[in-house]
Amino acid sequence: MLMDFVSNGRNVTLLSPRRMGKTGLIFRLFDEMSTKQSDVQCIYLDIFATDSLESFVKVLASAVSSVFSQNTKIGRQFLDYLKHLRPLISYDPISGVPQISVTYQTENEKEQTLKGILDFIDSRGVKVLLAIDEFQQIREYKNVCFEALLRGYIQMMKNTNFIFCGSKRKMMLDMFSNPRSPFYSSTVIFPLDSVNKESYKSFITALFAKDSRTIDDDAVEYILDWTRLHTFYTQSLCNMIYSEGSSHITMKEVDSAIAMILKLNEPIFFQYRELLTSGQWQYLEAVAKEGVITQPTAGKFLMKYKIGTPANSRRLLSSLLDKELILSTTTQEGTSYRVYDVFMEKWMGR
Ligand SMILES: Nc1ncnc2c1ncn2[C@@H]1O[C@H](COP(=O)(O)OP(=O)(O)OP(=O)(O)O)[C@@H](O)[C@H]1O
Ligand SMILES: [Mg+2]
Repeated sequence: MLMDFVSNGRNVTLLSPRRMGKTGLIFRLFDEMSTKQSDVQCIYLDIFATDSLESFVKVLASAVSSVFSQNTKIGRQFLDYLKHLRPLISYDPISGVPQISVTYQTENEKEQTLKGILDFIDSRGVKVLLAIDEFQQIREYKNVCFEALLRGYIQMMKNTNFIFCGSKRKMMLDMFSNPRSPFYSSTVIFPLDSVNKESYKSFITALFAKDSRTIDDDAVEYILDWTRLHTFYTQSLCNMIYSEGSSHITMKEVDSAIAMILKLNEPIFFQYRELLTSGQWQYLEAVAKEGVITQPTAGKFLMKYKIGTPANSRRLLSSLLDKELILSTTTQEGTSYRVYDVFMEKWMGR
């Protein structure tokens, strides 16, 4: 389906909680594009580590120069183009890889550089698919108008389509579905759900079978429920089971792998405990014990875990949401909350 949107020239917003498989999916899509639509040039940007227009331009320029290799016509044109800009590129003395820096430019020049690079890729006579991962990061930029600036440039592009990818749901939705935001309504929003359980079951069973190993049906079922079908956790647990080496996997092997994983992750959980107030920690523990909560201010919940007033509960919940230690999920039935990290939830809930 994602492939269809992209082939039809739609811009897409790809959305899911962390570690669900967004980045993996982008690369799968790129692979598929390279066989089915090899005329499209795919470019991937991860802007997680950027904090300004300047660093965005840097990441963009590096991504473009690595896609269009110096041995191709477009690659050479790009380097020539960069040379026209003010003190911008130097070469790594050892590897010869161009190092892009925009330090000495004025704000206005930086904007022109961004526009220039986007114009450049848009006017090479090839279709381009540009995926920007961790897109919510642009809300952290010092240049407050960056969002509007980028939107303005993107709107002018004729041959380039975009995938905007991110895990901070609230912020991403505000960017793409709030009428006051520059990117409002400019994309198809594509929430990445967990894999269908039956397909995931056959996938796991087949992987073990490939290595002439068998796994009981109830064991696979248990793994998927325990990890809430969340890709990263499912994969980690299966890896642990796999590395323990049994040729026939039953619930016993699953239990022992779970114990091992929780043990290995313990130092991380302890570290979180250091960073949180005791109130926050107890709140997180309460949510872990409940598994999922839908009414954080209900008297029963407040009383059971000695949380205090509804206002106190809201305050703790909001601080833990900000820290991405609690995940909120909104459906037609309402909003529910759970501990973000599945392993942490299970460890705390014990
Ligand atoms: N289709 C898939 N089937 C099985 N495992 C997958 C699949 N896609 C991704 N994974 C695994 O799930 C984990 C998370 O994937 P990925 O890094 O793509 O998630 P993400 O949503 O980009 O996470 P983040 O928000 O933290 O960047 C990885 O360990 C990856 O190997
Ligand atoms: Mg990712």
